[in-house]
Amino acid sequence: MVSFETFQTEAQQQIAACTKISELQEIKVRFLGSKSALILQLKELKNYEAAEKAKRGQQINQIKTALENAIADKTKSLRFQERLNKLGEPIDPTLPSPYPTAKPLHPLTQVRKRVTEIFKQLGYSIAEGPEIETEWFCFDALNAPQYHPSRSEQDTFFLSSKQSVATTTQKSNEAYLLRTQTSTVQIRTLCQHQPPLKIISPGRVFRRDTDDATHRFNFHQIEGLCVDQHTSVVDLKGTLDFFVQKFFGKGFKTRFRPSFFPFTEPSFEVDLFIPHLGKFRNEWLEVLGCGMVHPNVFKNSGIDPEWQGFAFGIGIERFAMLLYGVEDLRRFYQNDERFLSQF
Ligand code: DAH
Repeated sequence: MVSFETFQTEAQQQIAACTKISELQEIKVRFLGSKSALILQLKELKNYEAAEKAKRGQQINQIKTALENAIADKTKSLRFQERLNKLGEPIDPTLPSPYPTAKPLHPLTQVRKRVTEIFKQLGYSIAEGPEIETEWFCFDALNAPQYHPSRSEQDTFFLSSKQSVATTTQKSNEAYLLRTQTSTVQIRTLCQHQPPLKIISPGRVFRRDTDDATHRFNFHQIEGLCVDQHTSVVDLKGTLDFFVQKFFGKGFKTRFRPSFFPFTEPSFEVDLFIPHLGKFRNEWLEVLGCGMVHPNVFKNSGIDPEWQGFAFGIGIERFAMLLYGVEDLRRFYQNDERFLSQF
């Protein structure tokens, strides 16, 4: 046999150069099999003197262990390489996809766009307001009395205690809150622009509701406001009828029922007549609130109350559920591709 060192070096070189697991098996037989030079040397040990026998025995075992370890390591790395090879070419995740990536817009976005497009046809422009508001914009200026239940902490997310906040707006000790309605944008618009004006304002609103099939702590509204020298309930009704026919289709119409909102007088709940849609046939369904702008709203925003106007508030989720026949509002928020890809 060549020297132990030469033997070990030769074996290690072959293990290192090996590229297939099957070849590795052959190398193992060649260098560690029962007929290999090394193992034969083990059998020869009996022919040596005790001291020499011990020395050679130890050397043989060291080489054997070293080679076994090298083969085990190489097996692992070849297996890993095999798995990598199965994955195919490495991927550059920064490359643009070869497939078209355009996905349909989220159904709530589609409804928002559909509504705003219809009102744009009527000459409305889009106005925006912040989601973090002061109590003045959300309630006081909208003529909501101090005791109005919607102000209570059960309904409103207050961001800080009422006493401790100094603000730059009309009152010095009012609280910041998350707006509970997009009607705030009525005030913001009237404070900045002189009538005549026509705006719609889509946006997020927040209420301390527990999530269920028809409630959510955060949902979307579209506020509408039209102020001119002479506007009446007839204009309001005509506008909403036009809107529901454009939105849902022919045969849809509205019916007004007296109601109460602090910022409108008179106020109405609007029922929608549904000739045929999803599970509905010839039914009236309550869908939104509206009314003629209360003179106090004009006064609070520095506008002469001789102006006349109407306002309305549309719930985007409500209209999306109706249009698409979705019965659980939570579906819109689960980001489930199987649901979203249907729109
Ligand atoms: N702000 C009301 C709400 O969130 C909806 C509403 C009702 C808006 C009547 C209006 C209106 O502009 O006139 O429940």
